[in-house]
Amino acid sequence: MVINSKVQKLIKLKNMQVRKMKQLNDLQLEYFDTEYVNPTRWEIVKVLIDKDFPDGNFKFLDVGGGNGVFTDRLLQSYPNSEGTVLDNSELLLSKNLHHPRKNIICDSVENLGNLNQKYDLINFNWVLHHLVGKSYNDSRNNMLSALHNVESLLTDNGRVSIFENMYDGIFLDNLPSHLIFKLTSMKMIAGIIHKMGANTAGVGVCFLSKKQWVATLNKTHFSVQNYADDKESKSIIPLSHRIFLHLGHVRVGHFWLSKCV
Ligand SMILES: C[S@@+](CC[C@H](N)C(=O)[O-])C[C@H]1O[C@@H](n2cnc3c(N)ncnc32)[C@H](O)[C@@H]1O
Repeated sequence: MVINSKVQKLIKLKNMQVRKMKQLNDLQLEYFDTEYVNPTRWEIVKVLIDKDFPDGNFKFLDVGGGNGVFTDRLLQSYPNSEGTVLDNSELLLSKNLHHPRKNIICDSVENLGNLNQKYDLINFNWVLHHLVGKSYNDSRNNMLSALHNVESLLTDNGRVSIFENMYDGIFLDNLPSHLIFKLTSMKMIAGIIHKMGANTAGVGVCFLSKKQWVATLNKTHFSVQNYADDKESKSIIPLSHRIFLHLGHVRVGHFWLSKCV
């Protein structure tokens, strides 16, 4: 059953903070009514869950969980689990199927610190690169503060799971990240950038290289327990764009983190 009204289980958190992160509009968000965790990626995360939560009894938070497809998959695969989808898009949340062990929170990552709960597993599936602020540095800081904010939400033996795109430069590792941010965040050229295939045109997106992700994670109080590349992912970016953006190795990576002891 699709939940179409603003759901009985929808908890609206007090949103007293000034909004610092930009949000895509509904037309842009509609594009994300899909699921990026293909069988290879699911296998990566499932093996880690089975190892670290052998009884399958865990409570998880799917940050930026959108339409809830990933949450539904976890709930179905782990009948003793309980899950919460947090997202600031009412449109994507409205696509969620009802599930007795699922909660839905409509709020921004900015307010994660207001959650009064502990979770064993916190998922960030392709959401950190969307935490875009006014500048590139603000956006990088937003990612870091999101990771800092979930520290206190995680149980002592909890895990943070991150799926992200790795956009490495050909010679200058960080260059694609800066170029893509600049081009997608400029309102004046949004029409052209949209035509070139970026659904984030006019708002911005902050993809990082693998080295940049590792450097970001090294600034948190988490340690990387496992990293895996999705070797099967094929780039859908045309060669001309790749050359223009100085894009080298592009793939999906998965980080599995625990609290530093
Ligand atoms: C690329 S989609 C990924 C959706 C889902 N995690 C998946 O893997 O299919 C990015 C998601 O992050 C959400 N998002 C972006 N900025 C957010 C914010 N500041 N707070 C909460 N959710 C956010 C979007 O609404 C969208 O659902």
